[in-house]
Amino acid sequence: MPNAAFLGIGHYLPEKVVSNDDLAQLMDTSDEWIQQRTGIKTRHYVDFENNPMGASDLATLAAKNALDNAQITTDEIDLIIYATLSPDRFFPGDAVFVQSKLGIPAGVPALDIRNQCSGFIYGLNIANAFIQSGQYQKILLIGSEVHSTGLDFSNKGRDVAVIFGDGAAAAVLGPSDDPERGVVHVNMHADGRHADELHCPYPSSAEMPRATPQAIEEGRHFPLMNGKNVFKHAVSKMPESVKEALNATGLTSEDIKLLIPHQANLRIAEMVQRRLKLRDDQVFNNIQKYGNTTAASIPLALSEAVQEGRLEKGDLLCLTAFGAGFTWGAALIRW
Ligand code: ACO
Repeated sequence: MPNAAFLGIGHYLPEKVVSNDDLAQLMDTSDEWIQQRTGIKTRHYVDFENNPMGASDLATLAAKNALDNAQITTDEIDLIIYATLSPDRFFPGDAVFVQSKLGIPAGVPALDIRNQCSGFIYGLNIANAFIQSGQYQKILLIGSEVHSTGLDFSNKGRDVAVIFGDGAAAAVLGPSDDPERGVVHVNMHADGRHADELHCPYPSSAEMPRATPQAIEEGRHFPLMNGKNVFKHAVSKMPESVKEALNATGLTSEDIKLLIPHQANLRIAEMVQRRLKLRDDQVFNNIQKYGNTTAASIPLALSEAVQEGRLEKGDLLCLTAFGAGFTWGAALIRW
């Protein structure tokens, strides 16, 4: 049974860079508060006045870069898996838009998954299982988000608005011809008892009618977060799932060449690093530049780490995520 290996990776970021000082023009916040609490200095937003784009547009550009990196053409892709919490439309899912925008042949299946910050880990597990089963050979796995159109930039939403950024990244996965290379282990978890701790309540199929001007006026379409509780669970669940992965494979923290934690908040990533007793050179963070891009955050960091030459053939890469749901998980990959 061949495991899935990364054949290529790429990312795309919209050009508009928004600083903490820019946000301080819109709400009562400061560069000092944001950096101290989250480590974030800037994030990228789609420039809606000059170049409007949805998550599927960002995803398409990221996927093109991943395909170029893998030196694979669109007609070789036999499955698309797409993770986002900010799809272009309520339905259909975004994967079909990427399929038509990229020119991936009709008939190729396009699967959307809804696992927020853990989307890439969930997607990797699904892709690996399909590749192991032999059902699909070349899978495009995408994480993409446009948060900037769904944030409350008033004081009421400032705890959430300062955290998120727009961006996309994609990987091409295929069966490894080298038994030493590819996905070694993936675990994924969820605990729906905490679904209300971080969520976007509106629009909702549980309401009649589904959308009203009054609900929009009340701001019910903005995300809500219990930051302290999210923080508390993130710093315990991510190390727990990494330890589960290491125990399952007989490996240790010392074997990890690079850990890429979901870029939720630099303070969370630093605490995960401490709990796993990892050195600074074993961890890659880029939240300082991009904020939290949820489903895109892990592949975006991986794409940059690869560009910076942080991984060589045979290195042990560890990914871990935690997000809304709550959902979490970890993966070990032999690069
Ligand atoms: N600027 C200035 N002040 C703010 C801001 C802001 N942007 N946001 C909140 N405050 C204020 C609060 O109103 C509060 O004021 P008060 O003391 O007068 O009531 C004060 O700052 C402290 O607020 P807390 O919520 O207690 O601040 P905390 O230290 O918990 O930090 C934060 C908030 C950064 C959101 C933190 O809880 C956090 O990072 N949680 C994790 C959430 C996360 O990472 N979410 C990402 C999505 S989920 C995921 O990817 C894992």
